[in-house]
Amino acid sequence: MAVLEIRDLHVTVETDEGTTPILNGVNLTIRSGETHAIMGPNGSGKSTLASTIAGHPKYTVTSGTITLDGEDVLEMAVDERARAGLFLAMQYPVEIPGVTVTNFLRTAKTALDGEAPSIRHWTKDVTAGMKNLRMDPKFAQRNVNEGFSGGEKKRHEILQLELLKPQIAILDETDSGLDVDALKVVSEGVNRAKENTGLGALLITHYTRILRYIKPDFVHVMVAGQIVEEGGSELADRLENEGYAGYLPEDTPIEA
Ligand SMILES: Nc1ncnc2c1ncn2[C@@H]1O[C@H](COP(=O)(O)OP(=O)(O)OP(=O)(O)O)[C@@H](O)[C@H]1O
Ligand SMILES: [Mg+2]
Repeated sequence: MAVLEIRDLHVTVETDEGTTPILNGVNLTIRSGETHAIMGPNGSGKSTLASTIAGHPKYTVTSGTITLDGEDVLEMAVDERARAGLFLAMQYPVEIPGVTVTNFLRTAKTALDGEAPSIRHWTKDVTAGMKNLRMDPKFAQRNVNEGFSGGEKKRHEILQLELLKPQIAILDETDSGLDVDALKVVSEGVNRAKENTGLGALLITHYTRILRYIKPDFVHVMVAGQIVEEGGSELADRLENEGYAGYLPEDTPIEA
């Protein structure tokens, strides 16, 4: 049973205009087995929250706390956060030239466990994982994300999720750009992780369609770096119908 607790989190980033506040007091608690969704307009700070939890050096926590089972996450290096059980599927997964999917997954697993997985079991797990996610076995020998289509990158993120078995996973727009079949396959992967390992999940999304496959227990609305409303899955439906206008001042510029 894991608990990720975020309390009154304030985060800034350095931009050309100087130090810019992005998160302005975020509170959120995610427990094992729970599924949370964060929705909110472009630029409201959703990915910043994900990156801050994962330990991206660009983001400075100016006040507030993040703990995992009472342990101070902000004191942990990025790899320590992963070993503690945190996982981030990035909105824009990065290419790793020269590193094959097979080697990447095995290196990640070894780093997490402190020892290499036994070849026989591991090969079986990877093969089964790829099959479940309808990934062509050829992907095992391709360089990570190099030339992958948008949907292929997202499937590879879920493959990592299933193989690395984190306690709490943050999935930043893992549904974006997926066709209907891929969306189902990816959702099934997340649901398997929930069933098999009691995963706690935070889904960042703009659309309710993924929430039809992965039922959220809680929906949070983020606007201007704060969570301004919380509810159940009915809140997601309302947002899809009504948008965010009710949360924003009338003269708010709409981003491209
Ligand atoms: N590294 C950075 N440098 C400069 N500005 C940044 C940086 N990271 C985030 N920001 C700014 O912080 C704000 C929040 O960005 P963030 O990516 O967290 O939004 P988001 O809610 O994930 O939006 P989207 O729905 O479009 O993905 C934006 O105005 C963005 O320009
Ligand atoms: Mg984002």
